[in-house]
Amino acid sequence: MPGRLAGKNAIITGAAGGIGLETAILMSQEGASVLMTDVAAPALERALAKVKEVVPSRDGKLETRVVDVSKESDIEAAVGHLDSWGGVDVMFNNAGIMHAKDGDAEECPENIWDLTQNINVKGVWFGCKHAVRSLRKHKKTKGSIINTASMVALVGAATPQLAYTASKGAVLALTRELAIVHAREGYRFNSLCPAPLNTPLLQDWLGDDKAKRFRREVHFPTGRFGEAIEQARAVIFLASDESSFVNAADFVVDGGLTKAYVTPEGPATEAPKNLGS
Ligand SMILES: NC(=O)c1ccc[n+]([C@@H]2O[C@H](COP(=O)([O-])OP(=O)(O)OC[C@H]3O[C@@H](n4cnc5c(N)ncnc54)[C@H](O)[C@@H]3O)[C@@H](O)[C@H]2O)c1
Repeated sequence: MPGRLAGKNAIITGAAGGIGLETAILMSQEGASVLMTDVAAPALERALAKVKEVVPSRDGKLETRVVDVSKESDIEAAVGHLDSWGGVDVMFNNAGIMHAKDGDAEECPENIWDLTQNINVKGVWFGCKHAVRSLRKHKKTKGSIINTASMVALVGAATPQLAYTASKGAVLALTRELAIVHAREGYRFNSLCPAPLNTPLLQDWLGDDKAKRFRREVHFPTGRFGEAIEQARAVIFLASDESSFVNAADFVVDGGLTKAYVTPEGPATEAPKNLGS
Protein backbone atom coordinates (compact mmCIF):
# COMPACT_ATOMS: atom_id res chain seq x y z
CA MET A 1 0.00 0.00 0.00
CA PRO A 2 1.45 3.44 -0.87
CA GLY A 3 2.34 5.60 2.12
CA ARG A 4 0.28 8.62 3.11
CA LEU A 5 3.04 10.90 1.79
CA ALA A 6 4.09 8.83 -1.22
CA GLY A 7 5.69 10.99 -3.92
CA LYS A 8 5.99 14.09 -1.74
CA ASN A 9 9.24 15.96 -1.16
CA ALA A 10 9.62 17.40 2.33
CA ILE A 11 12.07 19.65 4.15
CA ILE A 12 12.23 19.60 7.94
CA THR A 13 14.11 22.28 9.89
CA GLY A 14 15.29 21.42 13.40
CA ALA A 15 15.38 17.74 12.39
CA ALA A 16 18.24 16.69 14.68
CA GLY A 17 16.00 15.81 17.62
CA GLY A 18 12.61 16.06 19.28
CA ILE A 19 9.63 16.75 17.02
CA GLY A 20 11.78 17.11 13.91
CA LEU A 21 13.43 13.70 14.26
CA GLU A 22 10.16 11.89 15.01
CA THR A 23 8.63 13.60 11.99
CA ALA A 24 11.54 12.54 9.75
CA ILE A 25 10.98 8.94 10.83
CA LEU A 26 7.23 9.01 10.21
CA MET A 27 7.60 10.86 6.91
CA SER A 28 10.10 8.26 5.70
CA GLN A 29 7.74 5.47 6.76
CA GLU A 30 4.94 7.18 4.82
CA GLY A 31 6.91 7.25 1.58
CA ALA A 32 8.07 10.89 1.44
CA SER A 33 11.51 12.00 0.28
CA VAL A 34 12.95 13.93 3.20
CA LEU A 35 15.68 16.54 3.55
CA MET A 36 16.54 16.71 7.24
CA THR A 37 18.13 20.04 8.18
CA ASP A 38 19.52 21.46 11.41
CA VAL A 39 22.17 23.89 12.61
CA ALA A 40 23.78 21.20 14.80
CA ALA A 41 25.81 19.10 12.36
CA PRO A 42 26.91 16.15 14.59
CA ALA A 43 23.42 15.76 16.07
CA LEU A 44 21.95 15.84 12.56
CA GLU A 45 24.19 12.97 11.47
CA ARG A 46 23.18 10.96 14.54
CA ALA A 47 19.54 11.67 13.70
CA LEU A 48 20.07 10.49 10.12
CA ALA A 49 21.57 7.23 11.40
CA LYS A 50 18.54 6.82 13.66
CA VAL A 51 16.06 7.26 10.82
CA LYS A 52 17.97 4.73 8.74
CA GLU A 53 17.94 2.29 11.66
CA VAL A 54 14.21 2.66 12.34
CA VAL A 55 13.21 2.77 8.65
CA PRO A 56 15.77 0.50 6.95
CA SER A 57 13.83 0.23 3.71
CA ARG A 58 12.44 3.45 2.31
CA ASP A 59 10.68 4.39 -0.92
CA GLY A 60 11.78 8.03 -0.76
CA LYS A 61 15.15 9.77 -0.63
CA LEU A 62 16.71 10.67 2.71
CA GLU A 63 19.42 13.32 2.99
CA THR A 64 20.76 15.88 5.46
CA ARG A 65 21.95 19.42 5.11
CA VAL A 66 23.30 21.87 7.69
CA VAL A 67 21.00 24.90 7.73
CA ASP A 68 20.83 27.86 10.07
CA VAL A 69 17.24 29.02 9.57
CA SER A 70 18.12 32.59 10.54
CA LYS A 71 20.28 32.81 7.37
CA GLU A 72 18.20 33.24 4.24
CA SER A 73 20.98 31.91 2.00
CA ASP A 74 20.96 28.61 3.93
CA ILE A 75 17.21 28.18 3.50
CA GLU A 76 17.32 29.21 -0.13
CA ALA A 77 20.05 26.67 -0.86
CA ALA A 78 18.19 23.87 0.97
CA VAL A 79 14.99 24.55 -0.97
CA GLY A 80 17.01 24.85 -4.19
CA HIS A 81 18.53 21.42 -3.48
CA LEU A 82 15.07 19.92 -3.94
CA ASP A 83 14.79 21.25 -7.52
CA SER A 84 16.45 18.05 -8.69
CA TRP A 85 13.83 16.04 -6.73
CA GLY A 86 10.97 17.91 -8.44
CA GLY A 87 10.52 20.77 -5.95
CA VAL A 88 9.13 21.11 -2.43
CA ASP A 89 5.69 19.73 -1.55
CA VAL A 90 5.91 19.95 2.23
CA MET A 91 7.88 22.47 4.28
CA PHE A 92 8.00 21.88 8.03
CA ASN A 93 9.43 25.04 9.62
CA ASN A 94 10.07 23.52 13.00
CA ALA A 95 13.45 24.83 14.28
CA GLY A 96 13.18 27.01 17.34
CA ILE A 97 14.94 28.02 20.53
CA MET A 98 13.84 28.86 24.05
CA HIS A 99 16.79 30.63 25.64
CA ALA A 100 17.74 30.15 29.30
CA LYS A 101 18.24 33.92 29.69
CA ASP A 102 14.71 34.68 28.43
CA GLY A 103 12.37 36.02 31.13
CA ASP A 104 9.85 38.75 31.83
CA ALA A 105 9.92 42.21 30.26
CA GLU A 106 12.63 43.45 32.65
CA GLU A 107 14.76 40.32 32.69
CA CYS A 108 15.00 39.44 28.99
CA PRO A 109 18.22 40.90 27.52
CA GLU A 110 17.84 42.63 24.16
CA ASN A 111 20.31 40.33 22.45
CA ILE A 112 18.29 37.28 23.58
CA TRP A 113 15.13 38.94 22.28
CA ASP A 114 16.77 39.51 18.89
CA LEU A 115 18.30 36.02 18.72
CA THR A 116 14.94 34.42 19.52
CA GLN A 117 13.06 36.45 16.89
CA ASN A 118 15.78 35.79 14.30
CA ILE A 119 15.47 32.02 14.64
CA ASN A 120 11.84 31.52 15.65
CA VAL A 121 10.20 34.17 13.43
CA LYS A 122 12.56 35.20 10.66
CA GLY A 123 13.53 31.56 10.13
CA VAL A 124 9.87 30.64 9.62
CA TRP A 125 9.36 33.57 7.27
CA PHE A 126 12.35 32.51 5.15
CA GLY A 127 11.06 28.94 5.07
CA CYS A 128 7.60 30.07 3.93
CA LYS A 129 9.01 32.47 1.34
CA HIS A 130 11.26 29.94 -0.37
CA ALA A 131 8.70 27.14 -0.14
CA VAL A 132 6.19 29.31 -2.02
CA ARG A 133 8.83 30.17 -4.63
CA SER A 134 9.58 26.49 -5.15
CA LEU A 135 5.90 25.51 -5.31
CA ARG A 136 5.30 28.16 -7.99
CA LYS A 137 8.48 27.35 -9.90
CA HIS A 138 7.47 23.70 -10.14
CA LYS A 139 3.87 24.64 -10.97
CA LYS A 140 2.46 22.72 -8.03
CA THR A 141 -1.26 22.93 -7.46
CA LYS A 142 -0.98 21.90 -3.84
CA GLY A 143 1.51 22.27 -1.05
CA SER A 144 1.57 22.12 2.74
CA ILE A 145 3.59 24.42 4.97
CA ILE A 146 3.55 23.62 8.67
CA ASN A 147 5.06 26.07 11.13
CA THR A 148 5.77 25.11 14.71
CA ALA A 149 4.34 27.67 17.10
CA SER A 150 3.40 26.79 20.69
CA MET A 151 0.52 26.64 23.08
CA VAL A 152 2.18 29.51 24.97
CA ALA A 153 1.06 31.80 22.16
CA LEU A 154 -2.58 31.00 23.06
CA VAL A 155 -2.61 31.22 26.85
CA GLY A 156 -0.72 33.36 29.31
CA ALA A 157 1.73 31.88 31.79
CA ALA A 158 3.04 33.20 35.09
CA THR A 159 6.41 31.68 34.23
CA PRO A 160 7.34 34.12 31.47
CA GLN A 161 9.65 33.69 28.53
CA LEU A 162 8.60 36.87 26.80
CA ALA A 163 10.82 36.67 23.74
CA TYR A 164 9.79 33.06 23.11
CA THR A 165 6.08 33.71 23.63
CA ALA A 166 6.14 36.78 21.38
CA SER A 167 7.98 34.82 18.69
CA LYS A 168 5.39 32.04 18.70
CA GLY A 169 2.56 34.58 18.56
CA ALA A 170 4.20 35.99 15.45
CA VAL A 171 4.34 32.50 13.92
CA LEU A 172 0.59 32.10 14.43
CA ALA A 173 -0.14 35.47 12.84
CA LEU A 174 2.11 35.13 9.81
CA THR A 175 0.96 31.56 9.16
CA ARG A 176 -2.71 32.59 9.23
CA GLU A 177 -2.10 35.46 6.83
CA LEU A 178 -0.12 33.38 4.33
CA ALA A 179 -2.83 30.70 4.47
CA ILE A 180 -5.36 33.20 3.21
CA VAL A 181 -3.04 34.84 0.66
CA HIS A 182 -2.18 31.51 -1.03
CA ALA A 183 -5.46 29.61 -0.54
CA ARG A 184 -6.46 29.66 -4.22
CA GLU A 185 -3.07 28.40 -5.31
CA GLY A 186 -3.70 25.28 -3.19
CA TYR A 187 -0.89 26.09 -0.76
CA ARG A 188 -1.99 25.43 2.81
CA PHE A 189 -0.35 26.95 5.88
CA ASN A 190 -1.03 25.65 9.37
CA SER A 191 0.57 26.26 12.75
CA LEU A 192 1.35 23.37 15.06
CA CYS A 193 0.77 24.37 18.70
CA PRO A 194 2.41 21.80 20.99
CA ALA A 195 1.95 21.75 24.73
CA PRO A 196 5.09 21.43 26.88
CA LEU A 197 6.86 18.26 25.80
CA ASN A 198 9.14 15.61 27.06
CA THR A 199 11.97 16.79 24.75
CA PRO A 200 15.42 18.18 25.67
CA LEU A 201 14.30 21.74 24.78
CA LEU A 202 12.16 21.85 27.93
CA GLN A 203 13.31 18.91 30.03
CA ASP A 204 16.97 20.00 30.15
CA TRP A 205 15.79 23.35 31.43
CA LEU A 206 13.50 21.84 34.09
CA GLY A 207 16.18 19.39 35.22
CA ASP A 208 15.64 17.90 38.70
CA ASP A 209 13.67 20.88 39.99
CA LYS A 210 10.55 19.05 41.23
CA ALA A 211 8.62 22.20 42.15
CA LYS A 212 9.26 23.78 38.76
CA ARG A 213 8.19 20.54 37.06
CA PHE A 214 5.02 20.10 39.18
CA ARG A 215 3.96 23.69 38.54
CA ARG A 216 3.57 22.71 34.88
CA GLU A 217 2.55 19.07 35.16
CA VAL A 218 -0.50 19.82 37.31
CA HIS A 219 -2.16 21.62 34.39
CA PHE A 220 -2.20 18.56 32.14
CA PRO A 221 -5.59 16.79 32.18
CA THR A 222 -3.68 13.62 31.22
CA GLY A 223 -1.17 14.10 34.05
CA ARG A 224 1.89 14.06 31.80
CA PHE A 225 3.91 16.09 29.31
CA GLY A 226 3.39 15.39 25.63
CA GLU A 227 5.75 13.23 23.57
CA ALA A 228 7.42 14.36 20.36
CA ILE A 229 5.84 11.52 18.39
CA GLU A 230 2.38 12.80 19.31
CA GLN A 231 3.26 16.07 17.57
CA ALA A 232 4.85 14.28 14.61
CA ARG A 233 1.66 12.30 13.99
CA ALA A 234 -0.26 15.56 13.71
CA VAL A 235 2.38 16.87 11.28
CA ILE A 236 1.90 13.82 9.05
CA PHE A 237 -1.83 14.56 8.88
CA LEU A 238 -1.22 18.25 8.08
CA ALA A 239 1.41 17.33 5.46
CA SER A 240 -0.80 14.78 3.72
CA ASP A 241 -3.74 15.34 1.39
CA GLU A 242 -5.99 13.95 4.15
CA SER A 243 -6.00 17.50 5.55
CA SER A 244 -6.87 19.14 2.21
CA PHE A 245 -9.52 21.38 3.82
CA VAL A 246 -7.48 22.23 6.92
CA ASN A 247 -5.97 25.66 6.37
CA ALA A 248 -4.96 28.61 8.59
CA ALA A 249 -5.46 26.46 11.68
CA ASP A 250 -3.82 26.91 15.05
CA PHE A 251 -3.51 23.12 15.25
CA VAL A 252 -3.37 22.51 18.97
CA VAL A 253 -1.90 19.20 20.17
CA ASP A 254 -1.92 19.60 23.93
CA GLY A 255 -3.82 16.75 25.60
CA GLY A 256 -6.60 19.24 26.40
CA LEU A 257 -4.39 21.56 28.46
CA THR A 258 -5.59 24.84 26.94
CA LYS A 259 -9.22 23.84 27.56
CA ALA A 260 -8.82 22.78 31.20
CA TYR A 261 -9.66 24.57 34.43
CA VAL A 262 -9.48 21.97 37.22
CA THR A 263 -7.62 18.85 36.17
CA PRO A 264 -8.36 15.27 37.28
CA GLU A 265 -6.45 13.44 39.99
CA GLY A 266 -5.00 9.95 39.74
CA PRO A 267 -2.26 8.33 37.72
CA ALA A 268 -1.15 9.84 34.43
CA THR A 269 -2.09 8.22 31.13
CA GLU A 270 0.46 6.03 29.42
CA ALA A 271 2.70 7.88 26.96
CA PRO A 272 3.51 6.42 23.54
CA LYS A 273 7.16 5.56 22.87
CA ASN A 274 9.13 7.83 20.60
CA LEU A 275 10.80 6.03 17.71
CA GLY A 276 14.00 8.08 17.60
CA SER A 277 15.04 8.05 21.27
N1 LIG B 1 9.52 21.02 23.72
C1 LIG B 1 8.46 21.74 24.02
O1 LIG B 1 7.97 21.72 25.15
C2 LIG B 1 7.81 22.60 22.95
C3 LIG B 1 6.55 23.12 23.18
C4 LIG B 1 5.97 23.93 22.22
C5 LIG B 1 6.66 24.21 21.06
N2 LIG B 1 7.89 23.69 20.85
C6 LIG B 1 8.58 24.01 19.60
O2 LIG B 1 8.82 22.82 18.86
C7 LIG B 1 9.92 23.02 17.98
C8 LIG B 1 10.85 21.82 18.07
O3 LIG B 1 11.36 21.75 19.37
P1 LIG B 1 11.66 20.37 20.14
O4 LIG B 1 10.81 20.33 21.34
O5 LIG B 1 11.64 19.24 19.20
O6 LIG B 1 13.12 20.68 20.68
P2 LIG B 1 14.59 20.36 20.17
O7 LIG B 1 15.47 21.28 20.92
O8 LIG B 1 14.81 18.88 20.27
O9 LIG B 1 14.55 20.74 18.62
C9 LIG B 1 14.86 22.01 18.12
C10 LIG B 1 15.91 21.84 17.02
O10 LIG B 1 16.11 23.11 16.38
C11 LIG B 1 17.49 23.23 16.11
N3 LIG B 1 17.87 24.62 15.93
C12 LIG B 1 18.07 25.57 16.88
N4 LIG B 1 18.45 26.72 16.31
C13 LIG B 1 18.47 26.51 14.96
C14 LIG B 1 18.79 27.32 13.83
N5 LIG B 1 19.18 28.59 13.97
N6 LIG B 1 18.71 26.77 12.59
C15 LIG B 1 18.35 25.46 12.45
N7 LIG B 1 18.05 24.66 13.47
C16 LIG B 1 18.11 25.17 14.72
C17 LIG B 1 18.19 22.58 17.29
O11 LIG B 1 19.52 22.21 16.98
C18 LIG B 1 17.27 21.39 17.56
O12 LIG B 1 17.70 20.23 16.88
C19 LIG B 1 10.54 24.37 18.37
O13 LIG B 1 10.12 25.36 17.47
C20 LIG B 1 9.95 24.61 19.75
O14 LIG B 1 9.88 25.99 20.06
C21 LIG B 1 8.47 22.87 21.78
